[in-house]
Order: sequence, then C-alpha cells, then structure tokens
Amino acid sequence: MTPRLNKDGITLHSKEEFEGMRAAGRLAAEILDMIGPHVVPGAKLDDLDKLCHDFMIENDSTPATLGYRGYPKSSCISVNHVVCHGIPGSKIPSWKNDKNKRTDDTLFDGDILNIDVTCILNGWYGDNSRMYIAGDAKPYAKRLIQVTHDALMIGIDQVKPGNTFGDIGAAIQRYVEAQKCSVVRDFCGHGLGRVFHSPPNVLHYGRWGTGPVLEEGMFFTIEPMVNLGRPETKVLADDWTAITRDKSLSAQFEHSMGVTADGVEIFTESPAGLFHPTQP
Ligand code: MF3
Ligand code: CO
Ligand code: CO
Repeated sequence: MTPRLNKDGITLHSKEEFEGMRAAGRLAAEILDMIGPHVVPGAKLDDLDKLCHDFMIENDSTPATLGYRGYPKSSCISVNHVVCHGIPGSKIPSWKNDKNKRTDDTLFDGDILNIDVTCILNGWYGDNSRMYIAGDAKPYAKRLIQVTHDALMIGIDQVKPGNTFGDIGAAIQRYVEAQKCSVVRDFCGHGLGRVFHSPPNVLHYGRWGTGPVLEEGMFFTIEPMVNLGRPETKVLADDWTAITRDKSLSAQFEHSMGVTADGVEIFTESPAGLFHPTQP
C-alpha cells in the first residue's frame, strides 16, 4: 500500500494501522515496566541494556536503535546531566555533584536516569522513554522529573485534530518555563510508524497556532527534555552522548501516540501503571 501523505508530507494512517502501533507501543512500554526493578545503585547500564535487548528478542521484536546510524546498543540510557543518547557500557560522564569517582557505567545512589527504548514489532516502531531513580534522589531531582512528566502530559493534552504542532510546543514551553526550568531545543520528537523517524519534527517549544495542523491518523512522539539550568547542550567525543553545557540536571519522558477523530491515543501507556517513577 502506498502511504497516504498530507500536504506537509506527514503520513496519515488508517484505523487498521492503529492496531500495529498499539501492539508495538504496548511492547515498548512493557520493556520499560520490566526494567524498573533492575534500576538500583550498583547496577551497570550495559546489563540493563542486555535485559532490554533480550526482552525485545524474546517478544519477536527487533531493537530499532541497534545499528541505527551506527548506534551500538538496544537502548539509550542518560544519567543526571546527560540529556539524551547516553550509551550503555560507556563510562557515565562525571557530574558535579558526584560523591565518588566514575570509572565505568555503574549507577550510584541518587542518580536519575532516562531509559529510552524503541522496538520494531511486525514492522511498526514503538518508541518510549521514562525516568528512573537509583536508590533515592534529592528533592530538586525529583521535582525536575515531575516537571518533565507533566510537561509531556500537557503537550499531549493539545493533541487533537485542528490544533497545530506549534500548540504542543507552546504548551510545553509555557509550563516548563513557569516552573523555572528550560526546554532543550537541540532535540525533538518525530513522526513514526513503519519508519523510526519521519516528518514532522515535533518541537517542545514554539508559538501557538503555528506549524502543521494535526489530522486524524498521524503517528508521532512527544519527548521533551527539560533542564534545571540552561537549555544548551553539547555532544561528547563519542558523537552520541549529549550533555547540558552548564552541567545542570536533565530529564526526559517520551510517548508514541496517534491522532484520533476527537483526540489522541497513547500507544505506550504502561500496562502496569508505572510510567511515572514516583507514582504510588
Ligand atoms: N529513541 C530515540 C528517540 O526517541 C532515538 C534514539 S536513536 C539512537 O527518537 F540511535 F540514538 F539510538
Ligand atoms: Co523518539
Ligand atoms: Co525514544
């Protein structure tokens, strides 16, 4: 079947195609549910990555990131001031508030981290990420996680036919900045479906009423990265790991979703109700 594109080059999917994303999104969420109990002080990121990898394989799916543009792992794990694309197995970048020296990818008590996984199931891409806490985190870190979670949900509240992608970004930016945090500009959400990254770029900042109009059948992610300090990022010498320039703490949440006739269907809702790490 030739894909149905709208005037902005965004693919519009049929009711039947929602079914494929529903299954891929559910599996992607189940990976993040599975990994939660393993995120403890002393755990190694590479072992967490292997658990994610094996879970995907056991469930007849493929890790989308493995070999994607040369990316070497089945997950991205981004600790503390790492904004995104942290590579499991690599030394965790030292952070200003570290009490011990970092020599490898072992988690310390109080670390906050984002785990981002994308699985391909029957050709459909399910992409999601959440924050986790190793042990117990400082109140300011927990607050950042809460703000970032709420920023994603406030963005999702804008998803319905007739609204624009600018409305999503504006809603997120207004909320995050009112919380005295900042929205990362250097990375964005994206269309997805039978491909990993497709139009449009889903910005997490912007102006009301601008950008492409949302239509039923669009599939995309919203995945705001929020910093306690300034928004600027820098990519390390490994060409992947992005950190905050001012070394301030960063957090991210991501859902994959589809636009329905009257709103949104979130494909990556946690079957166990574990999307937010500090939920009771
Ligand atoms: N899952 C990431 C996203 O949300 C993409 C990671 S691409 C990788 O779009 F190559 F860094 F893994
Ligand atoms: Co994504
Ligand atoms: Co992702």
